[in-house]
Amino acid sequence: FIKPLAVKSNGQLVIVSNRGACTFRETSQGVKGIPSVSGLVSALEPVVAREGGVWVAWGGRFGNEGDETGISCPLPEGDPKYVFQEVMLAPREVDLYYNGFANSCLWPLCHNFIEKSVFEEQYWQAYCQVNEKYARVILRTTKPQDFIWIHDYHLAKVPSYIRRFRTRARISLFWHIPFPPAEIFAVMPWAKEYISDMLDAELVGFHTQNYAQNFLQAAEEIAGAKVDYVSGTIYRERKRTKVVALPIGINWREFESLAGSAEVMQRAAQIRRSVGGDYMLVGVDRLDYTKGILERLQALAWLFKNCPQYRGKVTFVQIAVPSRTDTYAYQELRRKIEETVGRINGAFTENYHVPVRYLFKSLSKEELVAHYLAADMALVTPVKDGLNLVAKEYVVTNANNTGVLLLSPFAGAAQQLKEALQANPFSPRETAEQIIAGLEMPDAEKKRRLKALNNVVRNQDIDWWWEQLRLNWLGDVLQSRYVSPSDKVPE
Ligand code: F6P
Repeated sequence: FIKPLAVKSNGQLVIVSNRGACTFRETSQGVKGIPSVSGLVSALEPVVAREGGVWVAWGGRFGNEGDETGISCPLPEGDPKYVFQEVMLAPREVDLYYNGFANSCLWPLCHNFIEKSVFEEQYWQAYCQVNEKYARVILRTTKPQDFIWIHDYHLAKVPSYIRRFRTRARISLFWHIPFPPAEIFAVMPWAKEYISDMLDAELVGFHTQNYAQNFLQAAEEIAGAKVDYVSGTIYRERKRTKVVALPIGINWREFESLAGSAEVMQRAAQIRRSVGGDYMLVGVDRLDYTKGILERLQALAWLFKNCPQYRGKVTFVQIAVPSRTDTYAYQELRRKIEETVGRINGAFTENYHVPVRYLFKSLSKEELVAHYLAADMALVTPVKDGLNLVAKEYVVTNANNTGVLLLSPFAGAAQQLKEALQANPFSPRETAEQIIAGLEMPDAEKKRRLKALNNVVRNQDIDWWWEQLRLNWLGDVLQSRYVSPSDKVPE
């Protein structure tokens, strides 16, 4: 067993992602940074703020086709801990690489929506170009001994572009969304090259064991690599890639402290009063077809239709955070959600009590926590989700109350949060029945479940996640990327 290296003793940490800690806007006073809305960003910020280093990401601004390296800015403002290194992308690149390949091909493919996946050669070409551009910015702004930690499906070819120039670079890749079964991934025309390029990372991480298994199988069946399923190791051209399942955690102290603040508690009480009725349910999601918002609304309609005793008593508050608004599938979904909300309210409003409150906007952390606190129950019922951090945030926020979490078995978090109620989002009846089970649950059971859920979320938090990852990456794999003649490689 080799002791993990402290990242800084040898090189610095370099986080690489599509979206970074902030999005830049041009104003009359100059460029202004606005915090980004993303689970990935809120999870990685505390890690890089503690370790220091560089965060390489697109800053949301548009450059010309040839522009590569944008501004470097120390963050957080006023108390800098790391440097944000902006990558410049042209409008056409964002359209084809981000809206196109990442969000219209990979995203649906990995979330079981094959029929929505668009396989366009020009999307793929742009994806390759942008990944290569990222690699050039990384090579320019980092040193050979640095630890390059790449995130998500937007940038899976970056390891391979970096290795062309730095064969011994230390590279790890974390995949934040589901990884589908090999036979589904194989449908993508560029699957073989894609998986092979991911194998240029020495460590590849996923949120669940299922996703990791699917990836091992894809490496064997699609990329023709040798795989040791027991140790989670992939062998290719005398080099190995380790695969780990590590569910990302949250910075629960931040949520605990917000939940205890007098202003947030007052705001929660105010929300509760404005909503009225006996029970408040909450859903918080980016407006995305993977999140099961429409299916959830159908479950509510089922409940109000078949159990009229809850009319006038239950209010469902859906906070839908605007997301990928340039993509047709998201515009279409928004239209359908808004229509459905209107239909439910038209049919089931009783004594002017409105059953569904719908907000299409993003909330500050304080507002978010106030909504979690006000709600008797959180409905986290995606049709497919890599992990889902809202589930974890809700249980920490309500640790001292009596909240109930209803979770879809198709959210990665369901592998960890066993004490949550579960419902299949594709069944309006089952979801409605579980909502009723949650509303009618005795307080003692609510508290028992919340306690068990809190144990998991607090023990396997963001510090645990980074520590485990670091152990796997720097404590073990680094020394053994190259297979020696005495190593046993599966036949
Ligand atoms: O976690 C998956 C993810 O795609 C992240 O990579 C991303 O930052 C987040 O969801 C939000 O999506 P987007 O960056 O496309 O708005």
